Amino acid sequence: MNRKISLFLSTIILLTVLISCSKQAETTVSSPDGTIEVSFNLSATGQPSYTVMHKQEMIIDTSYMSFDFKDVPSLKDGFELVSSDMKTIDTSWDMPWGEQATVQNKYNELTLRLKETGQSARSLNIVFRVFDDGLGFRYEIPAMEGVSEVLVMDENTQFNLTGDHRVWWQPGDWDIYEHLYNETNFSEIDAIAKRDHPNLIATYIPENAVNTPVTMKTDNGLYLSFHEADLTNYSGMTLKVNNDTFEMESELVGSERLGGKAKVELPFNTPWRTIQIEENAGDLIESKMLLNLNEPNAIGDVSYFTPMKYVGIWWEMHIGKSTWDMEGSQDMSTYIEGQQGSKTHGATTENAKRYIDFAAANGIKGLLVEGWNTGWDQWINTDDREGVFDFMTPYPDYDFDEVMAYAKEKGVEVIMHHETSAAPRTYEKQMEEAYNFMKANNMNSVKTGYVGKIIPEGEYHHGQWMVNHYEKVLTKAAAKKIAINAHEPIKATGKRRTYPNAIAREGLRGQEFNAWATDGGNPPEHLSIVAFTRMLSGPIDFTPGVFNIKFDEFKPDNQVNTTLAHQLALYVVIYSPIQMACDLPEHYMLEGEIHPAFQFIADVGVDWDATEVLDAEVADHVVIARKEKGTGNWFVGGISDENSRTVSVKFDFLEEGKTYIATIYKDAADAHYETNPEAYEIENMDITYTSEIEINMAAGGGFAISLMQK
Ligand code: NOJ
Ligand code: CA
Repeated sequence: MNRKISLFLSTIILLTVLISCSKQAETTVSSPDGTIEVSFNLSATGQPSYTVMHKQEMIIDTSYMSFDFKDVPSLKDGFELVSSDMKTIDTSWDMPWGEQATVQNKYNELTLRLKETGQSARSLNIVFRVFDDGLGFRYEIPAMEGVSEVLVMDENTQFNLTGDHRVWWQPGDWDIYEHLYNETNFSEIDAIAKRDHPNLIATYIPENAVNTPVTMKTDNGLYLSFHEADLTNYSGMTLKVNNDTFEMESELVGSERLGGKAKVELPFNTPWRTIQIEENAGDLIESKMLLNLNEPNAIGDVSYFTPMKYVGIWWEMHIGKSTWDMEGSQDMSTYIEGQQGSKTHGATTENAKRYIDFAAANGIKGLLVEGWNTGWDQWINTDDREGVFDFMTPYPDYDFDEVMAYAKEKGVEVIMHHETSAAPRTYEKQMEEAYNFMKANNMNSVKTGYVGKIIPEGEYHHGQWMVNHYEKVLTKAAAKKIAINAHEPIKATGKRRTYPNAIAREGLRGQEFNAWATDGGNPPEHLSIVAFTRMLSGPIDFTPGVFNIKFDEFKPDNQVNTTLAHQLALYVVIYSPIQMACDLPEHYMLEGEIHPAFQFIADVGVDWDATEVLDAEVADHVVIARKEKGTGNWFVGGISDENSRTVSVKFDFLEEGKTYIATIYKDAADAHYETNPEAYEIENMDITYTSEIEINMAAGGGFAISLMQK
C-alpha cells in the first residue's frame, strides 16, 4: 500500500470515532478498560443525575445536576432525553515540556441531549468523557430563545459519596490556596474553623466548602480526587460539604460586583467537573486526564522559553536579610509599617552581579530579581495599591542595563518580576509596555504576583473576573513570546496544554511560609500531601533547595521542617519546568567551596521524557523517578513525612543492558528535621536495571539519586 494512504488509513483507525445513534438512546458509558462505568438518569420529575461505579463498587451514588440563573428560570427538571451520541477517541499529543514527552488521550464519550418537555422547551447537553483513570463531565448550555446571556447564580452539581472517606482538604477560600492541607474523615471537614488565618492577608471562606483538587481514600483503599479542567470564562469551583450525608455540591466563587457567580453568553460550555479514580496513590500523579480535557496548543511555537533552574534575590527578603524596597522598611514576616531603614535593599546592582556569578559558576541558567522596581514602599500597607508599580522604573541603586549586560556576558537569563499588588486593571493597562520592555531586554519569562485583596472590591482571586484576567495575561504574553509563572494565581486546570507559556504557578503554601509563618511553617508531611492534591493540577513553583535549614542568624524562631536531603528530592518529586535553587549563594558554600550536595541541583533535569512513581502513600511518602529529556539520564527523589522510614528502590525502569553511575544523596544515620537537618551522606555506585537498594529516610527526610549513563 502507498505509504501515504496507509498512514491516512491508520490515522483514521487510530482516531476511531464511532458514532452510534440508535433509537434507544444510550445512557451508560464505560472507560476503555471497562473498570469505570458512568450512568445517566432522569428522575421522575425529569431532573438529570448520574452515578459512577468502579469494578462493581458504587463510587458516586445518584447525584443531581441543575443551574439557577438571575431572571431566567432554572435549568433543573422537566427534561426528557432526546438523543445521545457515543464516541471513542484514542490519540496522542506531544508536550513542549513536561513530565513526559507524549501523552495518550484515550476515552469514551457520551453526549446526552436533553430538552424540557414544557412550553419553554429549552435544551441542555451533558457530556461525559470516561478514561481508564477517571472521568470528566461538562454542561453545554445552548442558546435560549430571547436570552443572549445568563447570570449564573448557582451551579448545583452534586458528588454523592458512598462513605465517610479519609480526606486531604483545604478550605474553599475564594482568595487563596495557601492553606495547609488537613487530614480528616469527610464527616469532620470544618472549613469555617480555618477562617482568619494570621499569615494570610487575603482570605475569604464563606461556608463549609473545600478547594480542589481534593483527594480522598475510601475504606476499600481506592483513591478519588475531585477537581475541574479547562476553567474558561467562568468561576472557580469550590465543593460545599454536607458532613452528615457525605454529599459535596459545586459552589462557584462569586462576585459582589456581579451579584452572582458568572455571567456567560449563550451558547456556553462549562469547565469539566473531574473525578480521578485510582487503585494506587502514585497513579493519581501519573494521570494526564486533566490535560487531556483541555484544548490543544493554541499558541504555536513556544521555544522562546527553555526549561531551567534559577537563583534569585528572593529568599533573602523572606528571611529578613534584606528588603524589597530601597528604604529598608518592608518585611514579609510582619507587614509592619514604619520600620524605616532597619535593613538594606536586596536588589542592588552589586548583589545581582553576585548572584549572576554564582549561577554562572554552578550550572544555573536563570536569575530572578525581586524588588528591582520602584513601588515596594507602598505595595502592601496601603488601601490604594492601584498603580504603585510600573514595571519599567528601576530603583536608583539597581542599574538595570548594567545588570542585564553582565548577565548576558555570563550566559545567565534574567527572569522579570511583576508584583501587581492585586491591581489587575492597572496591570492590564501596563502589559503592552511592560512586555515590550522585557523583550527589548531579551527577557522571556516573568513571575507575576497578586498579593492582597483584589482591587476593585467585590472581586476575588478565584472568581470569573480574575479567571479572565489570568487568561488575558497568558494570551497577551504569548503574543509577545513571554512565559508566565503566576503567584497568587487561579488554580491550574490543565490549560497549560492550550497555553504552554503557562510554565508554572504558586497556588499553594510555598517555601516562603517556612521563612516567616507564625504557625511553625510547613510541617514535614506538607509535600507528601501536596504531591497528591495541588500537584495533580499542574506545575508548582515551590522554590526548593534550602540548605541552611535553620537560618538562625536571621530568624531564630523559624526553620524549614525537612532535612537537606528532602530539599534535594523536591527537584524530582515536584514537577515544574522552572525550578529555583532558593537559598542564598553563601549558604551553598562550605569552607570557600561549593557545597558537595549542590552537585545534585546542578545536575538534575527540568524537562522529562518519562515519569514513574515508584512508591507512594498520601501524607506519608512519595518516591518518583524521572528520565531527563535529551540525555537519557534518570533522577530519583524520595521524601518522607515526620516519620523516618526505609524504602526499597528497584531500578527496573532503567534501560536494560546499560550501566548508570549513581550518586546517592541521603540523610545521615543521625539526621532529623528538627535536631540535625543538614546531616547528609553522598554515596557512589554502579546501578543497572536489576539493581535494588534500600534507603533510609530520616524524620522529615528524603533522598535524591542521579543516574548518569556510563
Ligand atoms: C508572594 C510571592 O509568593 C512571593 O514569591 C513574592 O516574593 C512576594 N509575593 C512578593 O511579590
Ligand atoms: Ca503521615
